[in-house]
Amino acid sequence: MPNASSFTRLPDRRGRAVTLYFEGEPVTAREGDSVAAALLAAGHAVTRTTAVLGTPRGPFCMMGVCFDCLMEIDGQPNRQGCMVPVADGLQVRRMAGARSPGDGDDVV
Ligand code: FES
Repeated sequence: MPNASSFTRLPDRRGRAVTLYFEGEPVTAREGDSVAAALLAAGHAVTRTTAVLGTPRGPFCMMGVCFDCLMEIDGQPNRQGCMVPVADGLQVRRMAGARSPGDGDDVV
C-alpha cells in the first residue's frame, strides 16, 4: 500500500496516461515519466532494500548516479528506475537484499 506522496506533478505535464504494475498493483503514470518518478508520484518511496541490513531505500538523485532506485523491471533485476521510461504494462518489483552473481550483467 503506498504512502501519501511528498511529490506533486507539475501542471504542464500532460502526457498520455499509462499503467504499470508495482508489486502487482496498478500505478497510473504519464507518458514521459521515468519508472522512479511514477512510483514516487504514486507514494511508493521504497524500491529496494540494502544487501547487509535490509534497510529500505528509494530513488534519490533521479539522474543515474546513486543507484538507490534499483528495481526489477519486466523480469530484469538491477535496473535503474530513474533511467527507464514508463510503458503500459511494465511489471516492476522491489529489489531485496544482495544481488546474485550474474544478475543484470546483460543489462547495458
Ligand atoms: S535515483 Fe539515483 S540512480 Fe536512480
